[in-house]
Amino acid sequence: MVEATMPSFAELALPLRQDIDEALADAVGNSGEMPPRLNEALRYSLLGSGKRLRPIMVLLAAEACGCSRAKAMPAACAVEMIHAYSLVHDDLPAMDDDDLRRGRPTCHKVFGEALAILAGDALLTRAFELLAVEVQPPVVAASCCASLAEAAGAAGMVGGQVDDLEQEQVAPSGDIEQQLQVLISIHRRKTAAMLRVSLKLGGIVAGATLDQLEALDAFGRPLGLAFQIVDDLLDVGGVEAATGKRVGKDHGRGKLTFPGLLGSEESRVQAASLIDEACTALRPLGPQAAGLESLARYVLERDR
Ligand code: IPE
Ligand code: IPE
Ligand code: MG
Ligand code: MG
Ligand code: MG
Repeated sequence: MVEATMPSFAELALPLRQDIDEALADAVGNSGEMPPRLNEALRYSLLGSGKRLRPIMVLLAAEACGCSRAKAMPAACAVEMIHAYSLVHDDLPAMDDDDLRRGRPTCHKVFGEALAILAGDALLTRAFELLAVEVQPPVVAASCCASLAEAAGAAGMVGGQVDDLEQEQVAPSGDIEQQLQVLISIHRRKTAAMLRVSLKLGGIVAGATLDQLEALDAFGRPLGLAFQIVDDLLDVGGVEAATGKRVGKDHGRGKLTFPGLLGSEESRVQAASLIDEACTALRPLGPQAAGLESLARYVLERDR
Protein backbone atom coordinates (compact mmCIF):
# COMPACT_ATOMS: atom_id res chain seq x y z
CA MET A 1 0.00 0.00 0.00
CA VAL A 2 2.56 2.62 1.04
CA GLU A 3 5.72 0.69 0.10
CA ALA A 4 7.10 3.39 -2.19
CA THR A 5 7.18 6.04 0.52
CA MET A 6 7.68 3.85 3.55
CA PRO A 7 10.46 5.32 5.73
CA SER A 8 13.00 2.92 7.24
CA PHE A 9 12.17 2.33 10.86
CA ALA A 10 15.71 3.22 11.97
CA GLU A 11 15.43 6.66 10.31
CA LEU A 12 11.99 7.23 11.65
CA ALA A 13 12.69 6.08 15.20
CA LEU A 14 15.91 7.96 15.91
CA PRO A 15 14.46 11.47 16.42
CA LEU A 16 11.38 10.07 18.13
CA ARG A 17 13.53 8.17 20.59
CA GLN A 18 15.50 11.33 21.36
CA ASP A 19 12.32 13.29 22.08
CA ILE A 20 10.92 10.45 24.19
CA ASP A 21 14.14 10.10 26.19
CA GLU A 22 14.14 13.83 26.93
CA ALA A 23 10.52 13.76 28.05
CA LEU A 24 11.10 10.65 30.19
CA ALA A 25 14.09 12.24 31.90
CA ASP A 26 11.99 15.34 32.69
CA ALA A 27 9.17 13.18 34.00
CA VAL A 28 11.33 11.42 36.59
CA GLY A 29 13.24 14.43 37.87
CA ASN A 30 13.86 14.34 41.58
CA SER A 31 11.17 16.31 43.30
CA GLY A 32 9.82 16.74 46.80
CA GLU A 33 11.00 14.17 49.26
CA MET A 34 12.02 11.40 46.87
CA PRO A 35 14.98 9.49 48.33
CA PRO A 36 17.98 10.07 46.03
CA ARG A 37 18.73 6.34 45.84
CA LEU A 38 15.17 5.63 44.67
CA ASN A 39 15.47 8.34 42.04
CA GLU A 40 18.69 6.75 40.87
CA ALA A 41 17.04 3.31 40.65
CA LEU A 42 14.08 4.51 38.65
CA ARG A 43 16.21 6.57 36.28
CA TYR A 44 18.49 3.55 35.81
CA SER A 45 15.51 1.39 34.88
CA LEU A 46 13.64 3.89 32.76
CA LEU A 47 16.39 5.68 30.86
CA GLY A 48 18.52 2.70 29.76
CA SER A 49 18.85 1.74 26.13
CA GLY A 50 15.37 0.35 25.45
CA LYS A 51 13.92 0.40 21.96
CA ARG A 52 11.04 2.66 23.14
CA LEU A 53 8.67 0.81 20.81
CA ARG A 54 5.58 1.38 22.94
CA PRO A 55 5.97 5.17 23.27
CA ILE A 56 6.86 5.34 19.57
CA MET A 57 3.60 3.49 18.88
CA VAL A 58 1.67 6.05 20.94
CA LEU A 59 3.18 8.89 18.90
CA LEU A 60 2.73 7.17 15.53
CA ALA A 61 -0.86 6.18 16.32
CA ALA A 62 -1.67 9.76 17.28
CA GLU A 63 -0.07 10.94 14.05
CA ALA A 64 -2.02 8.36 12.04
CA CYS A 65 -5.19 9.94 13.47
CA GLY A 66 -4.11 13.46 12.55
CA CYS A 67 -2.71 14.66 15.89
CA SER A 68 0.65 16.27 16.71
CA ARG A 69 3.23 14.05 18.33
CA ALA A 70 3.81 16.60 21.10
CA LYS A 71 0.25 16.26 22.32
CA ALA A 72 0.70 12.52 22.69
CA MET A 73 4.01 12.68 24.58
CA PRO A 74 2.63 12.39 28.17
CA ALA A 75 0.74 9.23 27.20
CA ALA A 76 3.87 7.91 25.45
CA CYS A 77 5.91 8.44 28.63
CA ALA A 78 3.24 6.83 30.81
CA VAL A 79 3.25 3.67 28.72
CA GLU A 80 7.05 3.40 28.81
CA MET A 81 7.01 3.82 32.60
CA ILE A 82 4.62 0.90 32.99
CA HIS A 83 6.76 -1.13 30.61
CA ALA A 84 9.97 -0.28 32.49
CA TYR A 85 8.38 -1.27 35.81
CA SER A 86 7.19 -4.55 34.28
CA LEU A 87 10.76 -5.34 33.20
CA VAL A 88 12.22 -4.54 36.63
CA HIS A 89 9.74 -6.89 38.28
CA ASP A 90 10.01 -9.52 35.50
CA ASP A 91 13.76 -9.76 36.19
CA LEU A 92 13.43 -10.30 39.96
CA PRO A 93 14.61 -13.61 41.44
CA ALA A 94 10.99 -14.48 42.26
CA MET A 95 10.07 -14.09 38.59
CA ASP A 96 12.49 -14.75 35.70
CA ASP A 97 15.61 -14.25 37.82
CA ASP A 98 17.68 -12.35 35.27
CA ASP A 99 20.91 -10.46 35.79
CA LEU A 100 21.17 -8.59 32.47
CA ARG A 101 18.73 -6.11 30.95
CA ARG A 102 19.30 -3.54 28.22
CA GLY A 103 22.98 -4.49 28.24
CA ARG A 104 23.48 -3.71 31.94
CA PRO A 105 23.00 -5.50 35.26
CA THR A 106 19.32 -5.71 36.19
CA CYS A 107 17.90 -3.18 38.63
CA HIS A 108 17.88 -5.56 41.60
CA LYS A 109 21.50 -6.55 40.96
CA VAL A 110 22.55 -2.92 41.27
CA PHE A 111 20.13 -1.60 43.88
CA GLY A 112 18.95 -4.71 45.73
CA GLU A 113 15.60 -6.45 45.56
CA ALA A 114 13.69 -4.18 47.92
CA LEU A 115 14.63 -1.02 46.06
CA ALA A 116 13.96 -2.68 42.69
CA ILE A 117 10.44 -3.61 43.81
CA LEU A 118 9.86 -0.10 45.09
CA ALA A 119 11.34 1.54 41.97
CA GLY A 120 8.85 -0.53 39.96
CA ASP A 121 6.05 0.65 42.25
CA ALA A 122 7.16 4.26 41.81
CA LEU A 123 7.23 3.99 38.00
CA LEU A 124 3.79 2.41 37.95
CA THR A 125 2.36 5.16 40.14
CA ARG A 126 4.10 7.99 38.30
CA ALA A 127 2.63 6.78 35.00
CA PHE A 128 -0.91 7.44 36.15
CA GLU A 129 0.04 10.73 37.79
CA LEU A 130 1.50 11.88 34.49
CA LEU A 131 -1.66 11.00 32.58
CA ALA A 132 -3.92 12.60 35.18
CA VAL A 133 -1.95 15.84 35.33
CA GLU A 134 -0.62 16.29 31.79
CA VAL A 135 -3.35 15.04 29.47
CA GLN A 136 -6.05 17.58 28.66
CA PRO A 137 -9.02 17.82 28.89
CA PRO A 138 -9.56 15.82 32.12
CA VAL A 139 -12.17 13.56 30.50
CA VAL A 140 -9.53 12.41 27.99
CA ALA A 141 -7.04 11.92 30.83
CA ALA A 142 -9.57 9.74 32.66
CA SER A 143 -10.15 7.67 29.55
CA CYS A 144 -6.38 7.16 29.14
CA CYS A 145 -6.04 6.14 32.81
CA ALA A 146 -8.89 3.62 32.53
CA SER A 147 -7.53 2.05 29.33
CA LEU A 148 -3.97 1.84 30.61
CA ALA A 149 -5.09 0.34 33.93
CA GLU A 150 -7.13 -2.30 32.15
CA ALA A 151 -4.24 -3.29 29.86
CA ALA A 152 -1.56 -3.28 32.56
CA GLY A 153 -3.65 -4.82 35.32
CA ALA A 154 -4.86 -8.17 36.59
CA ALA A 155 -6.76 -9.11 33.43
CA GLY A 156 -3.97 -7.78 31.21
CA MET A 157 -0.18 -7.68 31.61
CA VAL A 158 -0.08 -8.68 35.29
CA GLY A 159 -2.50 -11.55 34.70
CA GLY A 160 -0.43 -12.76 31.74
CA GLN A 161 2.72 -12.66 33.87
CA VAL A 162 1.00 -14.73 36.57
CA ASP A 163 0.02 -17.41 34.06
CA ASP A 164 3.45 -17.29 32.38
CA LEU A 165 5.06 -18.11 35.74
CA GLU A 166 2.46 -20.72 36.61
CA GLN A 167 3.16 -22.58 33.37
CA GLU A 168 6.77 -23.10 34.52
CA GLN A 169 5.45 -25.18 37.40
CA VAL A 170 2.98 -27.45 35.64
CA ALA A 171 3.55 -30.35 33.30
CA PRO A 172 2.22 -29.65 29.77
CA SER A 173 -1.29 -30.96 29.34
CA GLY A 174 -3.42 -31.39 26.24
CA ASP A 175 -2.32 -31.67 22.64
CA ILE A 176 -0.21 -29.08 20.83
CA GLU A 177 -3.26 -27.13 19.68
CA GLN A 178 -4.56 -26.84 23.26
CA GLN A 179 -1.15 -25.81 24.57
CA LEU A 180 -0.91 -23.27 21.78
CA GLN A 181 -4.22 -21.72 22.84
CA VAL A 182 -2.93 -21.40 26.44
CA LEU A 183 0.29 -19.83 25.16
CA ILE A 184 -1.53 -17.37 22.90
CA SER A 185 -3.73 -16.35 25.82
CA ILE A 186 -0.60 -15.66 27.92
CA HIS A 187 1.18 -13.73 25.18
CA ARG A 188 -1.91 -11.66 24.44
CA ARG A 189 -2.10 -10.52 28.04
CA LYS A 190 1.53 -10.31 29.16
CA THR A 191 2.79 -8.52 26.04
CA ALA A 192 0.17 -7.71 23.40
CA ALA A 193 -2.09 -5.85 25.83
CA MET A 194 0.53 -3.14 26.42
CA LEU A 195 1.27 -2.78 22.71
CA ARG A 196 -2.43 -2.52 21.89
CA VAL A 197 -3.06 0.07 24.56
CA SER A 198 -0.13 2.13 23.29
CA LEU A 199 -1.98 2.48 19.98
CA LYS A 200 -5.26 3.13 21.76
CA LEU A 201 -3.83 5.94 23.90
CA GLY A 202 -2.42 7.58 20.77
CA GLY A 203 -5.89 7.35 19.25
CA ILE A 204 -7.64 8.66 22.36
CA VAL A 205 -5.46 11.76 22.71
CA ALA A 206 -5.90 12.38 18.98
CA GLY A 207 -9.69 12.29 19.33
CA ALA A 208 -9.84 9.37 16.89
CA THR A 209 -13.12 8.13 15.46
CA LEU A 210 -14.42 4.69 16.41
CA ASP A 211 -13.38 3.43 12.98
CA GLN A 212 -9.85 4.71 13.47
CA LEU A 213 -9.65 3.14 16.94
CA GLU A 214 -10.87 -0.16 15.52
CA ALA A 215 -8.26 -0.06 12.74
CA LEU A 216 -5.52 0.63 15.30
CA ASP A 217 -6.65 -2.30 17.41
CA ALA A 218 -6.98 -4.62 14.43
CA PHE A 219 -3.33 -3.71 13.74
CA GLY A 220 -2.26 -4.10 17.37
CA ARG A 221 -3.75 -7.53 18.04
CA PRO A 222 -1.63 -9.50 15.55
CA LEU A 223 1.36 -7.19 15.99
CA GLY A 224 1.32 -7.74 19.76
CA LEU A 225 1.34 -11.51 19.42
CA ALA A 226 4.03 -11.40 16.73
CA PHE A 227 6.16 -9.21 18.99
CA GLN A 228 6.26 -11.85 21.75
CA ILE A 229 6.82 -14.68 19.24
CA VAL A 230 9.90 -12.81 18.04
CA ASP A 231 10.96 -12.24 21.67
CA ASP A 232 10.71 -16.01 22.21
CA LEU A 233 12.72 -16.58 19.00
CA LEU A 234 15.43 -14.17 20.14
CA ASP A 235 15.80 -16.18 23.33
CA VAL A 236 16.58 -19.19 21.16
CA GLY A 237 18.56 -17.73 18.25
CA GLY A 238 19.54 -14.22 19.35
CA VAL A 239 22.84 -12.98 20.73
CA GLU A 240 23.32 -11.23 24.06
CA ALA A 241 25.43 -8.45 22.55
CA ALA A 242 22.37 -7.40 20.52
CA THR A 243 19.44 -8.25 22.81
CA GLY A 244 21.14 -6.87 25.91
CA LYS A 245 19.66 -9.74 27.93
CA ARG A 246 20.57 -13.34 28.58
CA VAL A 247 19.55 -15.74 25.83
CA GLY A 248 18.76 -19.44 25.96
CA LYS A 249 16.93 -19.18 29.28
CA ASP A 250 13.29 -19.91 28.47
CA HIS A 251 13.72 -23.60 27.79
CA GLY A 252 15.72 -24.17 30.97
CA ARG A 253 13.05 -22.47 33.07
CA GLY A 254 10.31 -24.57 31.50
CA LYS A 255 8.63 -21.57 29.85
CA LEU A 256 5.86 -22.21 27.41
CA THR A 257 7.08 -20.51 24.21
CA PHE A 258 6.37 -20.53 20.48
CA PRO A 259 9.67 -22.10 19.40
CA GLY A 260 9.31 -24.59 22.26
CA LEU A 261 5.95 -25.72 20.91
CA LEU A 262 6.23 -25.26 17.17
CA GLY A 263 9.95 -25.02 16.47
CA SER A 264 11.75 -21.87 15.30
CA GLU A 265 10.96 -22.15 11.62
CA GLU A 266 7.19 -22.52 12.05
CA SER A 267 7.18 -19.81 14.73
CA ARG A 268 8.81 -17.39 12.30
CA VAL A 269 6.27 -18.27 9.62
CA GLN A 270 3.46 -17.53 12.06
CA ALA A 271 5.03 -14.24 13.16
CA ALA A 272 5.44 -13.17 9.52
CA SER A 273 1.84 -13.99 8.75
CA LEU A 274 0.66 -12.01 11.80
CA ILE A 275 2.70 -9.00 10.66
CA ASP A 276 1.10 -9.20 7.20
CA GLU A 277 -2.30 -9.34 8.86
CA ALA A 278 -1.40 -6.31 10.99
CA CYS A 279 -0.28 -4.28 7.95
CA THR A 280 -3.46 -5.12 6.05
CA ALA A 281 -5.52 -3.87 9.00
CA LEU A 282 -3.82 -0.45 8.72
CA ARG A 283 -5.25 0.25 5.26
CA PRO A 284 -8.27 2.27 6.42
CA LEU A 285 -5.88 4.75 8.07
CA GLY A 286 -4.26 5.63 4.74
CA PRO A 287 -0.75 7.01 4.14
CA GLN A 288 -0.61 8.69 7.56
CA ALA A 289 -0.09 5.18 8.98
CA ALA A 290 3.13 4.56 6.99
CA GLY A 291 5.18 4.90 10.19
CA LEU A 292 3.20 2.14 11.88
CA GLU A 293 3.68 -0.16 8.91
CA SER A 294 7.39 0.47 9.02
CA LEU A 295 7.41 -0.35 12.74
CA ALA A 296 5.54 -3.60 12.11
CA ARG A 297 8.11 -4.73 9.53
CA TYR A 298 10.88 -3.91 12.00
CA VAL A 299 9.25 -6.04 14.72
CA LEU A 300 9.77 -9.09 12.55
CA GLU A 301 13.34 -8.29 11.50
CA ARG A 302 14.67 -7.01 14.79
CA ASP A 303 17.68 -8.61 16.48
CA ARG A 304 17.11 -6.92 19.86
C1 IPE B 1 10.77 -6.84 26.35
O1 IPE B 1 10.26 -5.75 25.66
C2 IPE B 1 9.71 -7.46 27.17
C3 IPE B 1 8.61 -8.04 26.40
C4 IPE B 1 7.39 -7.67 26.53
C5 IPE B 1 8.90 -9.11 25.47
P1 IPE B 1 11.14 -4.93 24.64
O2 IPE B 1 11.81 -5.89 23.69
O3 IPE B 1 10.31 -3.86 24.02
O4 IPE B 1 12.26 -4.32 25.59
P2 IPE B 1 13.02 -2.90 25.54
O5 IPE B 1 12.04 -1.88 26.04
O6 IPE B 1 13.45 -2.62 24.13
O7 IPE B 1 14.17 -3.08 26.48
C1 IPE C 1 8.03 -10.31 29.70
O1 IPE C 1 8.20 -11.39 28.84
C2 IPE C 1 6.79 -9.61 29.48
C3 IPE C 1 6.64 -8.50 30.45
C4 IPE C 1 5.47 -8.14 30.83
C5 IPE C 1 7.77 -7.79 31.00
P1 IPE C 1 9.66 -12.02 28.92
O2 IPE C 1 9.98 -12.47 30.29
O3 IPE C 1 9.82 -12.99 27.82
O4 IPE C 1 10.53 -10.72 28.58
P2 IPE C 1 12.11 -10.71 28.57
O5 IPE C 1 12.54 -11.75 27.55
O6 IPE C 1 12.58 -11.00 29.95
O7 IPE C 1 12.45 -9.31 28.10
MG1 MG D 1 8.91 -13.11 31.95
MG1 MG E 1 11.82 -12.21 31.37
MG1 MG F 1 11.54 -13.22 26.63
